Amino acid sequence: TVDSVFAWEALDSRGKPTVACEVVLADGTRGHTSVPSGASTGTHEASELRDGGHRYGGQGVLTAVRNANTVLAQAVRGVDATDQVAIDQALRAADGTENLSALGANAVLAISIGSAIAAASAQGRSLYRSVDDSGQRPLLPLPMVNVLSGGAHAGRAIDVQDFLVVPMAAGSFAEAIEICARVRAGATQVLDERGLPTALVADEGGLGPVLPSNRAALDIMVEGIERAGLQPGADAAIAIDVAATQFHTAENTYVLSAEQGRTLRSAELVDELVSWTEHYPIVSLEDALAEDDWSGWAEATTRLGHCQLLGDDLFVTNPARLQRGIDGWVANAVLVKPNQIGTLTDARTVVTTAQAAGYRTVLSARSGETEDSWLADLAVGWRTGQIKVGSTMRSERTAKWNRLLRIEAELGDQADFAGAAAIAASGV
Ligand code: PGA
Ligand code: ZN
Repeated sequence: TVDSVFAWEALDSRGKPTVACEVVLADGTRGHTSVPSGASTGTHEASELRDGGHRYGGQGVLTAVRNANTVLAQAVRGVDATDQVAIDQALRAADGTENLSALGANAVLAISIGSAIAAASAQGRSLYRSVDDSGQRPLLPLPMVNVLSGGAHAGRAIDVQDFLVVPMAAGSFAEAIEICARVRAGATQVLDERGLPTALVADEGGLGPVLPSNRAALDIMVEGIERAGLQPGADAAIAIDVAATQFHTAENTYVLSAEQGRTLRSAELVDELVSWTEHYPIVSLEDALAEDDWSGWAEATTRLGHCQLLGDDLFVTNPARLQRGIDGWVANAVLVKPNQIGTLTDARTVVTTAQAAGYRTVLSARSGETEDSWLADLAVGWRTGQIKVGSTMRSERTAKWNRLLRIEAELGDQADFAGAAAIAASGV
């Protein structure tokens, strides 16, 4: 059972304050965690509590920390840490709001995950084993890795937020990461040769060149794959996170600033994306339309359903929003970010609901991350099949890749690798 909680203010990878905590069990076992934070956040996400005022430009989390140390600690005291549902119910009840805005989703998630980590440790098990009730062999996820960054993560040099590589030909997780690193190096070479800057990296470790259009970025991706000695499509394919909410207007149009303010209606944006998929080996599109453009999304699903259509801001890891998508034939995959909903139990529900409906699942980090690696364990234990963490550099990113590399190295042929099947599987 949980005995106490010790929370404090720490920094995330962008240098912004975040909640860190240790959950201490009655037998003295401790579970340490810290929570991530987004930049291109969805309107419908659970609510982070920020202090306002002068400290850290208003971004401090001392109030959330105090809530974790007092009322939330009180709520979980005496609760069995191996009973995640009971822990998360106690946290939700203490907050009392749907979006956890009273005490802070950042405070709630820190204790939710800290409890899971402490419980695994008390049982002498790895986290990926203690959260897995499938009875199957551990499943290493297929990664999608950020190569070029735009949007809110790179000063909006290009509209599309992420251009990622998907290592289709990889036979193991280690091979997958090597392919992705090779493509990133290839893309760096291509940019260097054109005199474009490659020394600075974006929030998730991607390259952030100023390019004349979104298509120019897709060209760099293809050339980077070729430069790596790989065949575009067969060996390494492209995923994009359009993050369309970021350039959607109140008039329900989409304005591409990388293309001289070219303005598109939903159907025209879908036309544009269809054209990209015809000319480039794109296998996955995330947030192709804005978070509340359900009719645009339905059209995208009809016309682009042969690709993975991934809802991030659309679903915000929220079971009710995912259900609306499933019922309305919208998207065919869900991005899962535990801090969008605030508890492990709710994030887990989203994974199981999606899997039951034939929707693919991609566990995801945030643009503001920490050096924790629990996300890697959740991907294996929840059998999500895919994971998205950012690039192959910056330690807050490699913490997750390195944890997966270690799990695979330790398990050897006792584990399976999801591979390209995870993304190619026909969804709905
Ligand atoms: P965020 O970006 O963490 O800034 O929301 C990640 C994403 O959009 O997938
Ligand atoms: Zn996204």
